[in-house]
Amino acid sequence: MTEQHQEWNSQLAFIMAMIGSAIGLGNIWRYPYVLYSNGGGAFLLPYFISIVCMAVPYLFLEYAAGYNFKTSLPNMFRRVQSKFEVVGWFISLAPFLILTYYIVIIAWDFIYFFLSFYHGWGSNPNLFFTETLLHSTSSISGLGDIILPILGSLIVLWLIIWFISHKDLNDGIGKYSKVLIPSLMIIMAVVVLIAVTLPGASIGYSALFNPKWYSICDPHIWLVAAGQIIFSLSLGWGVVSTYASYLPKGTSLVKNGIVVTIANCGFEFFTAIGVFSILGYMSFVQDVPLRYLVTEGTGLIFVAFPSIFNEMGVLSYIIGPLFFICVLFAGITTTLSLLEPITLGISNKFLIERKKVTTALCVIGFLISIIFATGLGNTLLTIFDNFLSNFIVIFGIILECLILGWLYNIDKLLDIVNTNAPFKLGKWWNFLIKFIIPIVFFAMWADGIIKLIADGSTVAIAVEALITIIMIIVPVILTRKPPAPRNSK
Ligand code: PHE
Repeated sequence: MTEQHQEWNSQLAFIMAMIGSAIGLGNIWRYPYVLYSNGGGAFLLPYFISIVCMAVPYLFLEYAAGYNFKTSLPNMFRRVQSKFEVVGWFISLAPFLILTYYIVIIAWDFIYFFLSFYHGWGSNPNLFFTETLLHSTSSISGLGDIILPILGSLIVLWLIIWFISHKDLNDGIGKYSKVLIPSLMIIMAVVVLIAVTLPGASIGYSALFNPKWYSICDPHIWLVAAGQIIFSLSLGWGVVSTYASYLPKGTSLVKNGIVVTIANCGFEFFTAIGVFSILGYMSFVQDVPLRYLVTEGTGLIFVAFPSIFNEMGVLSYIIGPLFFICVLFAGITTTLSLLEPITLGISNKFLIERKKVTTALCVIGFLISIIFATGLGNTLLTIFDNFLSNFIVIFGIILECLILGWLYNIDKLLDIVNTNAPFKLGKWWNFLIKFIIPIVFFAMWADGIIKLIADGSTVAIAVEALITIIMIIVPVILTRKPPAPRNSK
């Protein structure tokens, strides 16, 4: 077999796949909270500046790298200097590990989708979520307690991911993103429209945007803004370079990048209005100040929202299932992108068919994800997430900026970004990639380490040590293994 690199058969497929990766939990459960708790309307300023000065320039770097090398990340770094192949494996492995728990959250959501038709979470959604569903414990013995409904939901989701991913790029990720993303947008529009007409909705969205200008003097808020947009646009996890490597010649990277950024940021902005309208409704009917109701993450979608749906009467049987299906669609398209960097890496180096690689990876991923379907799952998930997304991923971004900015030809990458661009980027882009972005990420990284050390329990430290070992050993093994011999043409 010879190395074949697939290509998107249309711009639309690429854009939908990119939007599919970008729109995920970060937009639905993270952004509204981050916006509210970091200065409300005033947060939009550091957020907008981060988009323009950091996220979009870095997005272009990932685009240009993928488009230039037209190969997997390990191969790309190997071509910069052979010793860097290991960095490519490191960056590709992180999203795969993240996938093993990200999919568990989607599995919970899938269960809630069914529950939402009859408020199956009962009158105490908090108790239902932590005890009845998750059997949540922080004791190691929880590992022996496999929760069957979660396991069942996981099996279905892994089958869906496998079914889409094992097909060729255009028949799989391309085709399904073109269906799922427009559907997601339409359904979310309906949810937001219903939400803003609820009594008390304005209490929520006006509080959301109420600007607290003093907050922009806090440097921490600037780091939060940069972290949010980087996460939301799926940057730094190798996904963007991998998807961009499938672009055919003659594509305008700048135009594509701008469309994806606007779609992603527009989506999270409107979702935030919807989420806060729903919270505003609760504040109104229960006469509770909004600040007591605002939460993020699992607390928002699996506890606060079900509690609100319990109060809402007949309308909740419409808005509830629609909301949970949005999370499901957003989650599935994101998980597809998390599998792609390592799939391409392995099939490229060892010349194994995509079908076989995705099948093996889905089986391995499923087996790992079972640990998150146990009573200890929720505790482990939090530790994995804190460590991987605050520490490992940011480390990868810094390495990528340094290697591509300093050791590769950054002027060549700038030329690639500028090809067919509606406007040209100047040398300031090189400066951002070489200096500003790594420095900001270094600050974010240091901030993350301080937090990790501050709340490091023994279990957390043990798990983090284990992840570190995996993140070193697996890339080293994959680097050392000789590639499959190429047929000469
Ligand atoms: N952008 C995704 C979200 O908002 C998260 C993600 C980050 C996915 C990086 C892939 C790569 O949920």
